[in-house]
Amino acid sequence: MNVLIIGGAGYIGSHVTRRFLDAGHQVSVFDNLSTGHRANLQKEADFFEGDILIKGKLLEAMSAGFDAVIHMAAFKNAGESMEKPEIYAENNISGTINILNAMSEARIKKFVFSSSSSVYGEPDYLPMDEKHPLIPVSFYGFSKLEIEKLLKWYEKLRGIQSVSLRYFNAAGYDPQGRITGLEKNPSNLIPVVLETAAGIRDKVLVFGSDYKTKDGSGIRDYVHVSDLSNGHLAALEYLENQKQSLIANLGIERGFTVHEVIESARKVTGREIPVEVVDRRAGDPAEVYSSATLAKKHLGWDPQYCDINSILETHWKAYLANYPEK
Ligand code: WQD
Repeated sequence: MNVLIIGGAGYIGSHVTRRFLDAGHQVSVFDNLSTGHRANLQKEADFFEGDILIKGKLLEAMSAGFDAVIHMAAFKNAGESMEKPEIYAENNISGTINILNAMSEARIKKFVFSSSSSVYGEPDYLPMDEKHPLIPVSFYGFSKLEIEKLLKWYEKLRGIQSVSLRYFNAAGYDPQGRITGLEKNPSNLIPVVLETAAGIRDKVLVFGSDYKTKDGSGIRDYVHVSDLSNGHLAALEYLENQKQSLIANLGIERGFTVHEVIESARKVTGREIPVEVVDRRAGDPAEVYSSATLAKKHLGWDPQYCDINSILETHWKAYLANYPEK
């Protein structure tokens, strides 16, 4: 198929682009390179440099004719979204509306959307399945939920069918080392831990010591970016074969504490990783992990990286490519 990947130079987007190319699809990337890297652009993919807030650019790109759009161009820092809701509203909500409107005009009917586990908010029960109440506690989560709702109307009124993939905590890098562009100023735990191992930061601030978990720190479900990429490929196949929409979690159905992640990172990197335990971060639930039953059933999704070490090893390899050992 001929696929347009919006945000294809970003961390997850470049991995998804690589996966679609490996599977033999024809791929074009649309990206404004604000958080993505030119170095992440895959040479077999065509590139449109543009911003999703500029409708004309989207229409220009889409006029090339595509079977499907994969949308991964969003701001994704839940904490930041509480301080700067305007940019999340504009980019994540208005930007996605621009994409859907351009798709309507270009008559593209298949859409794969990067949604988030943050649409759920505080867990009522675990594991979190897709029937869990949707009460986001961050504006970021709200922005993703708004798009899921819009998609129901664009399906009804414009025939755009979609798969919304609710990612849990994405981490890891291409195991073959083909993608090495690191995220700029990361705030997620695993890149923060590895920046500390690499000497870019002095220490990891561990948010919270009094959660009701085995060591008092937060528990999250870390899912490898290559497994996420396989999920996107399966989502497109689902749209092609089943001709209906779907919302599905992508997570490995188990969680690790912050201290477990740091301890594993010490083993994987062989480096010292100093920590300072500080207060909880606002809006952080104690424990989050997925049920991925729907993705397994409908997408045949079968995650390969279910231990934290292999996630950290591949992610660390990307750090070593950028910061070689002396
Ligand atoms: C993980 C754990 C922190 C940084 C993010 C997105 C969310 C979703 C999943 C996709 C928590 C702790 C972190 C640090 C720490 N996915 N932590 N020190 O908040 O679970 O969610 O990924 O969209 O939308 O926001 O991820 O990596 O920030 O935190 O102690 O410096 O690590 O408290 O327990 P989070 P995270």
